Amino acid sequence: MTKIKRIRKAVFPVAGLGTRFLPATKAVPKEMLTVVDKPVIQHVVNEARAAGIEHFIFVTGRGKAVIEDHFDHQFELEATLSGKKKTRELDELLAELPEAGCTSFTRQQAPRGLGHAVWCARDIVGDEPFALLLPDMLHHGAKPCLAEMIEAYETTGGNVIAVAPVPDNQTHQYGIAGVEDAKAKVSRITSMVEKPPKGTAPSNLHITGRYVLEPEIFPLLGRHEAGAGGEIQLTDAMIALNNAPGHAFHAVRFDGDIYDCGSKIGFLLANVAYGLERDDLGPQLRAAIKDML
Ligand code: G1P
Repeated sequence: MTKIKRIRKAVFPVAGLGTRFLPATKAVPKEMLTVVDKPVIQHVVNEARAAGIEHFIFVTGRGKAVIEDHFDHQFELEATLSGKKKTRELDELLAELPEAGCTSFTRQQAPRGLGHAVWCARDIVGDEPFALLLPDMLHHGAKPCLAEMIEAYETTGGNVIAVAPVPDNQTHQYGIAGVEDAKAKVSRITSMVEKPPKGTAPSNLHITGRYVLEPEIFPLLGRHEAGAGGEIQLTDAMIALNNAPGHAFHAVRFDGDIYDCGSKIGFLLANVAYGLERDDLGPQLRAAIKDML
């Protein structure tokens, strides 16, 4: 078994153009759209932090500078809140801010695919295993998804990805993983394929956008081989790594709900789900939705 090291760093690829969410994303990054009262990216950073992540690496692009501002102090606002004794608001704001020196930002200079975006983080990650979280996908469950995965990694070592079942007629929209035991919470991955043509998927378990990866993925991504859709695909590099001796992949089945906030319907549903569970908003929202229907 490969050596188990602590997972300290997480990569967030946030360079995507958000074309599925126009016109909202013309001038505002899709990661800054709010689910209830936090930007989508803040929810995902909070998931990473709940799993013990200490350093947050953002692979950004043109027009995404506001994400960097979001994870910085806003002195004018903080001074105003403090002056007005709005302590709760101020505390909430500060509690979600990563510590100084614990964020890094680099740019993916051209839209060449997810694999290329991850490769752009190679120098900042260095020679250690890391987490990767795709910010579009909000994972909403009793236990944060990445925390479950890191717990599994502490036993399996190697590489771990989250999977969840999708209806058979949707497998062509995702990366799909074949596993040894489809019913087990944690199972060895036997095959992976990115966006398989209809009727050819090895299972109905889709790759949900949460990964723990060994640094050996980087030289494979560095080959810059184009895959599905002409893009450099992360899944192709994962297949190559899984085939190399000593770099096994395990799947952790996520049993909560997943909302694709890069799509309009996923975003609307996320707002309802996250709103309903809030003490301050839930009862009113539930009653209003009932009336509406
Ligand atoms: C990416 C991955 C795919 C995964 C999906 C989850 O695809 O390549 O394997 O299933 O995210 O959202 P994309 O949605 O960027 O096309």
